[in-house]
Amino acid sequence: MRKRKLIAGNWKMNGTLEANDALLRAVAAGINELACQVVVCVPAPYLAQVQMLRQGSKIELGAQDVSRHATGAYTGEVSATMLREFGVRYAIVGHSERRQCHGETDAIVAEKARTALAHGITPIVCVGETLAEREAGQTEEVVKRQLAAVIHVNGHCISEIVVAYEPVWAIGTGKTASPEQAQQVHALLRQQLAAATEHAERVHLLYGGSMNAANAATLLAQTDIDGGLVGGASLKAPDFLQIIAAACA
Ligand code: 13P
Repeated sequence: MRKRKLIAGNWKMNGTLEANDALLRAVAAGINELACQVVVCVPAPYLAQVQMLRQGSKIELGAQDVSRHATGAYTGEVSATMLREFGVRYAIVGHSERRQCHGETDAIVAEKARTALAHGITPIVCVGETLAEREAGQTEEVVKRQLAAVIHVNGHCISEIVVAYEPVWAIGTGKTASPEQAQQVHALLRQQLAAATEHAERVHLLYGGSMNAANAATLLAQTDIDGGLVGGASLKAPDFLQIIAAACA
């Protein structure tokens, strides 16, 4: 049986109480009969608000990061236990913006994935190459290295993760990877997972990077693209709903 596609919105550092209310209500109203899974990954201060707003809808709640530590003196960090208290089911880990601006290494990302899994939160592990790396022909090496670290630490439950391939040069730039470019990397990631688990087919492999209402259907039609991690377009209800509709088709 084909698995249901997964569309996750990453709001990044956007939103206000008022704007979130309007966005969530509009999205929830547009997706009553769902043939795919929908998640919104919201800034931590809005978890309580969105937890309430999503009630009665099929929208799942996600966080944009999670601490690798359980508890203690880690100023500014949010633990997996805290996220669970707000009904969080997914957490993005290793987003390129965190790797670049917050010094997250492959090893830290792998630990975050482990902490999330240990608390019943599905990590959405982001991998992806920069433009310089792509131009130097290093795409395969980079994404494999990033995923290998996560497999190394989480080998026994690796089929429980979600992987998002987000080429850094496509994020927020309006330059999407072509469906062929994306599929090529997704196939590599699937192969790598297959070497670690017999359940590699179960793992959702998401594409992220300027996915929008116009290009979603072709990207989502690729064999190994099981969904999307959507930034900018997830902040506009009509656009997000069109992407969801493409994934449910
Ligand atoms: P955009 O869809 O805005 O390019 O962002 C992609 C992304 O980084 C999602 O995590």
